[in-house]
Amino acid sequence: MKSPNENIQIALIGAGGMGQGDAHLATSLPGVKLVAACDCYDGRLQHMKEVYGPETFITRDYREIVRRRDIDAVIIATPDHWHAPISIDCLNSDKHVYCEKPMVHNVSEGHDVIAAQAKAGNVFQVGSQYRSSATYLKARDLYQANAIGKLNSVEAWLDRNTAIGAWEYSIPTDASLSTCDWPQFLGNAPKREWDAARFFRWRNFRDYGTGVAGDLFVHLLTGLHTVTGSKGPNRIYATGGMRYWKDRDVPDVMLAVLDYPETPEHSAFNVLLRVNFKSGLPQESFGVKFIGSDGVMTTGYTGV
Ligand SMILES: NC(=O)c1ccc[n+]([C@@H]2O[C@H](COP(=O)([O-])OP(=O)(O)OC[C@H]3O[C@@H](n4cnc5c(N)ncnc54)[C@H](O)[C@@H]3O)[C@@H](O)[C@H]2O)c1
Repeated sequence: MKSPNENIQIALIGAGGMGQGDAHLATSLPGVKLVAACDCYDGRLQHMKEVYGPETFITRDYREIVRRRDIDAVIIATPDHWHAPISIDCLNSDKHVYCEKPMVHNVSEGHDVIAAQAKAGNVFQVGSQYRSSATYLKARDLYQANAIGKLNSVEAWLDRNTAIGAWEYSIPTDASLSTCDWPQFLGNAPKREWDAARFFRWRNFRDYGTGVAGDLFVHLLTGLHTVTGSKGPNRIYATGGMRYWKDRDVPDVMLAVLDYPETPEHSAFNVLLRVNFKSGLPQESFGVKFIGSDGVMTTGYTGV
């Protein structure tokens, strides 16, 4: 048992955009100290030393973090194909884990992560923020108070119209095989020649990312499940394609239709999901619209 006066010592594995944001938030809490960071790109490791101090331990190999006994918890914010292996190794070495969404790259990996968590008995939290956001908890209260009557359908969308929004991230000018650990990035993914676009724009490739479904539908569905208490649909139809962006193997327009069965928490309802990376709109639009017999409730990033 730890003394409440000790720091909780954390490490960040995957120090890109989201990992740095998560680490910043975690260390803004009293008693939380970031002592180590792991990444496959030297520029990101250097940045972590600049932000958290020169004594911060940095490494390209997450196993060096797994081996350290003084680290209580890790934040995992690597590309999706690394989530399950790193989560399992960290749970097996008695660390608590906050792993960014999506929990796994392939659904089949989920069982091993759940088993590792059950064995370790440690905290394993998936970074799907609409599970805990004030907006969605408020929407849940309204839904439970019967504000819209009987739910019959839901329409959820995310429309984007910028290159960054479509995952065309900039590639650092010093990106090379000496500044980037390509084998460590690839892990269990198929072996191939160095490709800076794959390294820095990994979301565009199924070998490392989960496409729109795992990367973005996950947010629409988490918000929906938080509000309705649902555990998920029993029928799904989805389609999409590379309609504007061609430099990838994942769709930039994706649509899905889902059937939710009746449960003690809700009546049966239908869901329409849409993500469009070339929407023609002047700005990003995101929402989940709950349509009921007596009214409509729409949630966005910060309001309901
Ligand atoms: N909850 C949210 O709203 C949200 C938002 C953005 C991203 N995410 C999730 O966070 C994760 C990271 O996304 P991002 O946008 O920060 O991507 P990113 O490319 O900015 O960062 C990923 C980092 O992981 C590093 N990396 C790659 N392989 C590694 C390995 N084996 N060990 C250690 N580091 C490794 C990369 O070098 C890179 O710096 C993704 O799973 C993504 O789905 C969640």
